[in-house]
Amino acid sequence: MSCDISTTKSGPVRHYLQFNDLSRDECLYLFERARVLKQKFKHYETYHPLHDRTLVLIFEKSSTRTRLSFEAGIYQLGGHAVYMNMRDTQLGRGEPAEDTARIISRMVDLIMIRTFEQSMLQRFAMHSRVPVINGLTNEAHPCQVLTDIFTYIEQRGPIQGKVVTWIGDANNMAHTWADAAQQLGFTLRVSTPPEYRLERARLNISRTDCIEEIEDPSAACADADLVTTDVWTSMGFEAENEVRKQAFAHWTVTPERMARARPNALFMHCLPAHRGEEVSAKVIDGPQSVVWEEAENRLHVQKALMEFLLLGRMAS
Ligand code: CP
Ligand code: NVA
Repeated sequence: MSCDISTTKSGPVRHYLQFNDLSRDECLYLFERARVLKQKFKHYETYHPLHDRTLVLIFEKSSTRTRLSFEAGIYQLGGHAVYMNMRDTQLGRGEPAEDTARIISRMVDLIMIRTFEQSMLQRFAMHSRVPVINGLTNEAHPCQVLTDIFTYIEQRGPIQGKVVTWIGDANNMAHTWADAAQQLGFTLRVSTPPEYRLERARLNISRTDCIEEIEDPSAACADADLVTTDVWTSMGFEAENEVRKQAFAHWTVTPERMARARPNALFMHCLPAHRGEEVSAKVIDGPQSVVWEEAENRLHVQKALMEFLLLGRMAS
């Protein structure tokens, strides 16, 4: 069933295009809700609050985790998914995002898009009658960072006051972590080659005192509670691959660097990973790594997000 005005049962349409589209309080609600939904899943408890709801997934870039976690997630909540590869749609042949948004949002209840430019996602959302979720753009990957923080809390407790160290490219993930740092009150320490630094203008935050830039990756890992990284070449930047390999050659998360972090520090990577480039095999396959839990949690956090966007807060 799709709405014919821009409201859901719980009020005006809410989109999730960037991390800060949810308040701190809403993030904390979602973390608790994801925990509850994960428990239901682990206990084979049928829970179908989104019975008959349809989610459309539009992909302009490759995906394993995002596609599967959204498809499986909506099925587990009682709804169904329609996958659209942008290449096979009229969008891929130049139909405006605005027209496509108007049409798709008259037929379904929820839309997830993975694309290149954040501006395309914003134009799409402005013309959508139903919630639009960012499944990754060049600028942001909010579902992943929301999941990573849920995973940290699940493993170690509150993230407020902790130090999260980012090593490598200041890409969509790094910028989203920076947005999250202000929202949730932790420090993001960023170590990048000088020519690949965070762009302050791209951040969606009012203060940057939660961000520390330390060029030396070993120094940046000192006393960190969480060390995280990502590929040196994100989707869409493949032509720069060889140049990037040279530029990032000293920005690998190694066992020696992990040893400088706190003894109970965790390692995360949104995946896919390149062992021997941004992370050593000994780290990603080692005891501090929680990358598999992190990947699984996409399912539970996004179920909580979809439920929230369509139904609002649920009584626990
Ligand atoms: N981490 C992540 O978004 O993975 P996929 O590219 O496989 O969706
Ligand atoms: N930064 C990576 C994340 C992949 C999930 C990319 O955009 O390709």
